[in-house]
Amino acid sequence: MNILITGGAGYIGSHVLNLLSKQTDHNLYIYDNLSTGRKESVVAGELIQADLEDLETLEHVITSKSIDAVFHFAGSIVVPESVSNPLKYYKNNTLNTLNLIDLCIKHKINRFIFSSTAAVYGIPADGVGRVGDPTFPINPYGSTKLMTEQMLQDVGAAHPDFKFIILRYFNVAGAAVDGSVGQCTPNATHLLKIACQTALGKREKMQIFGDDYDTPDGTCIRDYIHVDDLAQAHIDGLNYLNGGGTSEIFNVGYGKGSSVKEVLEATKSIIGNVFNVEVGDRRDGDAPKIISEAHEISKKTGWTPKNDNLQVIIKTAIDWERRL
Ligand SMILES: NC(=O)c1ccc[n+]([C@@H]2O[C@H](COP(=O)([O-])OP(=O)(O)OC[C@H]3O[C@@H](n4cnc5c(N)ncnc54)[C@H](O)[C@@H]3O)[C@@H](O)[C@H]2O)c1
Repeated sequence: MNILITGGAGYIGSHVLNLLSKQTDHNLYIYDNLSTGRKESVVAGELIQADLEDLETLEHVITSKSIDAVFHFAGSIVVPESVSNPLKYYKNNTLNTLNLIDLCIKHKINRFIFSSTAAVYGIPADGVGRVGDPTFPINPYGSTKLMTEQMLQDVGAAHPDFKFIILRYFNVAGAAVDGSVGQCTPNATHLLKIACQTALGKREKMQIFGDDYDTPDGTCIRDYIHVDDLAQAHIDGLNYLNGGGTSEIFNVGYGKGSSVKEVLEATKSIIGNVFNVEVGDRRDGDAPKIISEAHEISKKTGWTPKNDNLQVIIKTAIDWERRL
């Protein structure tokens, strides 16, 4: 197949690219403006450095490369920025995706794998995000993703040949087990990335945002998923569609959580030093606990996580951070 990977120079896209290049002989075309991605992460395929807004270039790539499937990662991902600059998010995440889907329909591209997020759930009452439960995003970032989900479902209903997989990611962390790619996102806000940077002395200190939540140790609980397992879910999703599967929304997580303190203690014990952690105030909009209910993706696509282990997640993240 000829596959277009938007945002393939970014954190998650580059891990999917890495696995696709090792597991398949698809032709891979990476479409990325390098706003947060980097050339060095494009470990396979052909990089087209362009913006999704540039519809002429996008359409030229789609037609000249005879694209038959799209993995769509490109987007803006920083929640607080989406609150202060919502239109940037509606433009880059919703409008640019609308234009991309439009081109897919025009050129009969019938496979579309989309990066969504647990942020569509908002703050689930019992701490568990379930596909099918009502969605109440609490920030513009989550809303832009939910709007795209809705567009895909409506377009899929109108064009039965157009099949999509929406993957709602939980807390993505770690780096490729084979060491070839990892997270390079500038100013990343992900807990594990910041913990590794602090542990290695790249940051002076870090903060825990609140330790008085109604959880066993008072800090927030999240469902951390290793980025290679998440990446594999995309490939399994495409194979599922190619095997006749129907369009689906899947959670991708391990269905269990670790607290902020647990992550920090594990990082300290793996790295063997004590680093500076301050306890600050709670942040607006942080739910005490968000974990996934994620049986469906395994049942339907055969997805089998290989790195469901906090130690492995942290170790790969530290190894990567050391190499950067
Ligand atoms: N990282 C997470 O924890 C997480 C969680 C849930 C969902 N997601 C979603 O996964 C996707 C990938 O996230 P990531 O963590 O790899 O982020 P990232 O910032 O590392 O990657 C995004 C990539 O898209 C590119 N890009 C952005 N806007 C573009 C545009 N207009 N045109 C062309 N390229 C553009 C960037 O240069 C970058 O390479 C995003 O859609 C994000 O919303 C990420």
